[in-house]
Amino acid sequence: MKEIKLRKYSPETDFRRVRDFLQQNYSAFAAPVNWGIERWNYARYFIAPYLGSCGLNTQDNSASIAAIRFWEELVGIWENEAGEIVGVANIEHPDKKHRDYGEIFIQRHSHHPELLEEMLQYGEKNFLNPLTKSCHIFVYEDDDLLLNVVKKRGYRLREKVSATHLESEIEENYQDNLPQGYSVHTMQENNRISERCEIFGRSFNHPDPKDWPSIYSYQQLQQAPDYDRKNDFYITDENDNLVAQAIIWFDEINKTGHLEPLGTHPEHRGKKLAQELMQACFARLQQLGATKMPITGGFDPFYLAIGFRKIRTCYSWQKSFGDDY
Ligand SMILES: CC(C)(COP(=O)(O)OP(=O)(O)OC[C@H]1O[C@@H](n2cnc3c(N)ncnc32)[C@H](O)[C@@H]1OP(=O)(O)O)[C@@H](O)C(=O)NCCC(=O)NCCS
Repeated sequence: MKEIKLRKYSPETDFRRVRDFLQQNYSAFAAPVNWGIERWNYARYFIAPYLGSCGLNTQDNSASIAAIRFWEELVGIWENEAGEIVGVANIEHPDKKHRDYGEIFIQRHSHHPELLEEMLQYGEKNFLNPLTKSCHIFVYEDDDLLLNVVKKRGYRLREKVSATHLESEIEENYQDNLPQGYSVHTMQENNRISERCEIFGRSFNHPDPKDWPSIYSYQQLQQAPDYDRKNDFYITDENDNLVAQAIIWFDEINKTGHLEPLGTHPEHRGKKLAQELMQACFARLQQLGATKMPITGGFDPFYLAIGFRKIRTCYSWQKSFGDDY
């Protein structure tokens, strides 16, 4: 049997290699079990720098850089003798006080189910939440392989913690039905970074500027290999204020379009702005060649209302280690 080795992540070369691994394996499963390329880009180039500086009220970048390094240090890579990646374990929120800290993500190769247990074990050892002394992982209801390993390792189903995998075909032609005074733009037209940081914060219900992304975080996002300013949309109102925002990501090999993030300013909700923004996103994705958009863990009522359909559910499983860990 070929030897597979676990090694540390090397930022200079591995970001792109893992990204390619995710892209090549995305369609190898009957239904996706790994992250799409958008989540990998977004975790490293936005969530990490944003979480690092969130709440600090500073434009000093050192906390963001430390969070990126912390995220990178925790990534584990399994490689075969030929030097090919066959598995990855990682976190999403590099902040030990974050409510989702302790979540294990494993990215797998369809030919190597035997690595599941080792990857989970790696997550338990390295990603444990120090406050709750527990780890958790989302498992799709149809993913028997992972479900068996999770149960075997003593995880328990968390009541009422689930996420839905939804999908929409991308086939419609965009029709502009925006309410009067509103218009859609992209960051390619005008790179309004500080206002884009503000509308990100406000649309996720953070009125306090200290909780908005720093300029540095947004600059990082714009350096993500799969980010394109043409795919970064915002809506302005009649006073040219930014009131809604969305970014799409295109996976050329799998012909999928992904969305991360989407939000509308609380004072402008209920006017179909997010729905209209999605129409603009679909039109762009159609142009690029995407045929569908999968979403897991979004705000379901909105997506169902605009035509997404439910594919399956994933549930959260938790393992507690108690005081004797
Ligand atoms: C979800 C969100 C983007 C919706 O923005 P919006 O501009 O108000 O949405 P729209 O007006 O285009 O809504 C279109 C339809 O979605 C449904 N919908 C939107 N918000 C809803 C809510 N809070 N509850 C139930 N249904 C909702 C409605 O059917 C609505 O049509 P209707 O107004 O005719 O009933 C906005 O509430 C938001 O930014 N939330 C916080 C960030 C977030 O959750 N982003 C999405 C996470 S993936």
